[in-house]
Amino acid sequence: MLLIKNGTVVTAADFHRADVLIEGEHIKAIGHDLSAPGAEVIDARGQFVLPGGIDPHVHLDMPFMGTSSSDNYETGTLAALHGGTTTVIDFVLQTQGKSLRHALEAWQGRMNGNLYGDLSFHMAVTDFNDGTRKEVKEMIEQEGITSFKTFMAYKGALMIDDRQMVGLMQEVKQHGGMVIVHATNGDMIDYLVQKHRSEGKLSPLYHYLSQPEITEAEASHRFADMASYTGVPAYIVHLTCEGALNAVRDAARRGQRVLAETCIQYLLLDASLYEREDGAKWVMSPPLREKKDQTQLWAGIEQGSLQVVATDHCPFTWEKKLLGKDDFSKIPNGHPAIEHRMELLFSEGVNKKRISVNKFVEVTATNPAKIFGMFPKKGTIGIGSDADIILLDPNEKHTLSAKTHHMNVDYSSYEGRELTGKVKTTILRGQVAVHNGEVRIKKGYGKFVKRNKVSGML
Ligand code: URP
Ligand code: ZN
Ligand code: ZN
Repeated sequence: MLLIKNGTVVTAADFHRADVLIEGEHIKAIGHDLSAPGAEVIDARGQFVLPGGIDPHVHLDMPFMGTSSSDNYETGTLAALHGGTTTVIDFVLQTQGKSLRHALEAWQGRMNGNLYGDLSFHMAVTDFNDGTRKEVKEMIEQEGITSFKTFMAYKGALMIDDRQMVGLMQEVKQHGGMVIVHATNGDMIDYLVQKHRSEGKLSPLYHYLSQPEITEAEASHRFADMASYTGVPAYIVHLTCEGALNAVRDAARRGQRVLAETCIQYLLLDASLYEREDGAKWVMSPPLREKKDQTQLWAGIEQGSLQVVATDHCPFTWEKKLLGKDDFSKIPNGHPAIEHRMELLFSEGVNKKRISVNKFVEVTATNPAKIFGMFPKKGTIGIGSDADIILLDPNEKHTLSAKTHHMNVDYSSYEGRELTGKVKTTILRGQVAVHNGEVRIKKGYGKFVKRNKVSGML
């Protein structure tokens, strides 16, 4: 048994001084002056006791753009635990022409036995046909994979057309799942990429200029319209800008609920980085946007139009980024963030009084758990829930650097940034996983999480 004493327990709804008693993998009691003879006691005085973070958007060991993301299931989930994220949702990518099962087996092969933290899968459907249609029910009911990712971009590789999108939506709705989307207009982006290349405009700045805000706004509206027509629960990943947020707001105005996530980098970083020599570090899709978009995204969180802050963690070493040194379209898209989402959002959001600590819990843990069929097992501090808990010192200052981070990548997107608020202890299903930087569990402790059907509501 483990007893956390004297901390401030925060959930999406509550904030109170309490002790938390853990028995086995679960929370047994929450109350004042709890005692448990023989239990290991952790003194959390001066610290927040928060639900372990859930990052529903990560890409580990993912084959992509001629290489693979540099964090695998071992390094990625361990880095996540260091930063207070206890569960992540990764993406299985169907190969066009092959089955969902074929892709799932390949991903399971890389994952099995290698997890430190808990993990679940989304299934990315890149080829919806009669065969795929039959596999949707099986994924939901047998595998507990209840969310289906679609790409409206990456033409020629991952993109599906609207015909496939509507077909998938109808099938997924029938079986109680959700369709989630990378919503940018792939044809328009493809045209702009080729235009810039033919004009000899090859620097990272042209990655940004090939994906203007309108490409995301248009696709987000189109996706919301197709979701409205089919009635499928719908979620937009990595929403970056005002135009796309307006698609979510417009849907709400007609009584439709389109759920959406932004990612920590879109709240804190902007497109001026693409003008730097090392701009390739921030080449991701969609690209970083403008300051006015950051203002809108913070407002969207506050208003509840954006329910989740994720990372889209998809790191590539600098050597791999250099694959595109002469042509922005060859830079592997993605950047590292899995370790620092919680501390960045706490420091920049809670400590700078942009959001409350309850909102912090909501967007980093509770909403992802509810949206993706894991609540109340995960995402909250409640009796009977998994004991996925972090202790966070709200006043401790520290500096982010590639020299000290645990992600398997040789640069930090936030090199030298000073933060206030540090995750001191991460507990996963009742085990202290990381304490003051020391790892106390072994590879293989992390479990695959089968998820429940989703309602599309919070
Ligand atoms: O640039 C990104 N986002 N890379 C990962 C794949 C995706 O689009 O999410
Ligand atoms: Zn994407
Ligand atoms: Zn992604």
